[in-house]
Amino acid sequence: MLSESEIKIKVEKLLLKMSLEEKIGQLVYIDTRNKNYDEEYKAGKIGVAACVMDPEEINRIQRLTVEESRLGIPVLVGNDVIHGYRTIFPIPLAEACSWDITLMEKTAAVAADESAANGTMLIYAPMLDIARDARWGRIAEGAGEDTFLGSVIARARVKGFQRYHEETGTATIACAKHFIAYGAAEGGRDYNSVDMSEKTLREVYLPPFKVAVDTGVETVMTSFNDFNGLPVTANKFLIQDILRNELGFDGVVVSDYDAIHELVIHGVAEDSGEACRKAFEAGTDMDMNAGIYTEYLSELVKKGKTSEKMIDDSVRRVLVLKYKIGLFDHPYINIEKARTAVLKKENIDLALDAARKSIVLLKNNNKLLPLGKDIESIALIGPLADNRQEPLGCWACDGKPDEVVTVLQGLYSRIQENTSIMYVKGCNIEDRLSENIDEAVEAAKCCQVAVVVVGESAEMSGEFHCRSSLELPGMQEELIKAVCATGTPVVVVLMNGRPLSIPWVEANVQAILEAWHPGIQGGNAIADILLGYTNPSAKLVVTFPRDVGQIPIYYNHKNTGKPPFEGSLEKKAPVSNYLDLHHTPLYPFGYGLSYSNFKYENLNIRDRKVKLGERVMLSADVANYGDTDGDEIVQLYVQDINASMTRPVKELKGFKKISLKSGEKKTVEFELPIKQLGFYNNKMKYLTEPGIFHVWIGWDSAQGLEGSFEVIS
Ligand code: BGC
Repeated sequence: MLSESEIKIKVEKLLLKMSLEEKIGQLVYIDTRNKNYDEEYKAGKIGVAACVMDPEEINRIQRLTVEESRLGIPVLVGNDVIHGYRTIFPIPLAEACSWDITLMEKTAAVAADESAANGTMLIYAPMLDIARDARWGRIAEGAGEDTFLGSVIARARVKGFQRYHEETGTATIACAKHFIAYGAAEGGRDYNSVDMSEKTLREVYLPPFKVAVDTGVETVMTSFNDFNGLPVTANKFLIQDILRNELGFDGVVVSDYDAIHELVIHGVAEDSGEACRKAFEAGTDMDMNAGIYTEYLSELVKKGKTSEKMIDDSVRRVLVLKYKIGLFDHPYINIEKARTAVLKKENIDLALDAARKSIVLLKNNNKLLPLGKDIESIALIGPLADNRQEPLGCWACDGKPDEVVTVLQGLYSRIQENTSIMYVKGCNIEDRLSENIDEAVEAAKCCQVAVVVVGESAEMSGEFHCRSSLELPGMQEELIKAVCATGTPVVVVLMNGRPLSIPWVEANVQAILEAWHPGIQGGNAIADILLGYTNPSAKLVVTFPRDVGQIPIYYNHKNTGKPPFEGSLEKKAPVSNYLDLHHTPLYPFGYGLSYSNFKYENLNIRDRKVKLGERVMLSADVANYGDTDGDEIVQLYVQDINASMTRPVKELKGFKKISLKSGEKKTVEFELPIKQLGFYNNKMKYLTEPGIFHVWIGWDSAQGLEGSFEVIS
């Protein structure tokens, strides 16, 4: 790999040789699916090519740029490698529920290895949007609702994606997206406007991007949304002042797909020419597929409306990147190695590990689960029980349904000889045809237990796949009701891309597993948990509402002056309640059960008074008094009870994932820097104030051992 100074010299030399058109070419991203771009490659008019996966085709394109263009600058191939390239891991939201940072770095690294071998060097991930609205389909692509956890995960995923690959001699680079506040789209409807205080922007939505920049992320993608009246792609304040100047980002800023053209539709540019000027002046280096920089940028320079120096700066950033990752030296793919780099045994094993660690046990009455390795009969029911497509989830990249292990297959591979399985689909995912609910009922009647696998199709989440209802679609709830009516104990396994509101299921079914869209090894992981080979350990990173009407619902809300009443709905007091629904969630953030029984005791706050600028040391004992060894995610929450501005009722400030053998007890320690307890005032100054802080060490955001300490000046 070249040193920084060597790269600088090469880039400057190359820049001197480039025509304005060739420079602009480096700022152009195209979607290869739209038309044949051979002439443009040869003319040096394309910097990044996307949506091309076939290694032979990538080599062909690369030959056009390297061997047939005047300056031989290779094209960078970018793709949406969101949760795996060919080895598909659980969707990012699911994987975040593992709270296992090492695991998340590893899966990103494997995705990057497979990508690099197949010619994709630019990975359009991780998605760092904090998402507090389950209707928004893209909630599936991120790390959930919490800023602290989202930031820790941002670091891991950037580190995992951005790595040097010995096999290819090249490095992959990540793209932190979507900058910014995209997850706050009004009404949970994709692309919708965002109107938000700068304080909320800084406290909730910006921190994961700051961490990504600090971790060295090389590219950032602007989001589609309008932020306080100006779309991000044309927003100088956000791109120049905050991202570049404040966070210190010196990599490439790329627009989202067609977003420069959309400035006209948003109504902030008269025509494409003005959209071009606004986006470029705001700091958007690259045009993703709008074709606008190709058409208008040189004209703007010629008319003196944009300086060539600014173009040079953007081109410099792109060329530095191409040298940095070794693309000039290794532009071609080794086809043989590309084939063998994917789906290696260790990659598939990692997909299994990730799926096991992402599945959340939501309910387990009377210890129905695990079913036990010697269970005699299982009625396996539901449209997702033997489905190969949907477990891949949204953005499945090069994932293939044939490589998916279904729950039926997973169970068959793990059951003993004397266990029988009766499989009945029961109904479809979305339509209202009852298909064979009667048959499902008959199967349930003659088995020891019924496992009903229901949820959403992969296409029900992801980009522009938002929902106004969070209920199980189609006839699936009717199917569960019919099976429950048989009296046979029922386990519901959910496969979905967002939190669902399932109050009837929660009230009536004995056991519930949230498996999300679990990737290619989902069926094996679910079977392991059902039968007891694996003890579930995941915890929710997003709140589950009782009803869609509660949205937005998230754990770190403010208290209000009339906090919701905890008791029955009968009480008609002026409090922040609903008349017809309890205000609490169905399952809170941080919630998840285990086959072990954990007990928390002895909260110890070492110093009751701590100075600003110092750190407080806290600990609690966690014991496993169950029969099963298990993992527990111990969470630390803090509340600033009296500050100069209102503060959330609780904020996650630390967590540790520990393993405890049956009968084992561990002291879990946290070191909490006081400066992490600050907030922005209305002048956008970050403050840490003296005063009393409540603190909890607990098993979810709703409960835990409680104490307090004082911060003094
Ligand atoms: C999405 C991005 C994605 C891009 C390229 C856009 O529509 O918003 O997340 O990276 O397409 O596929």
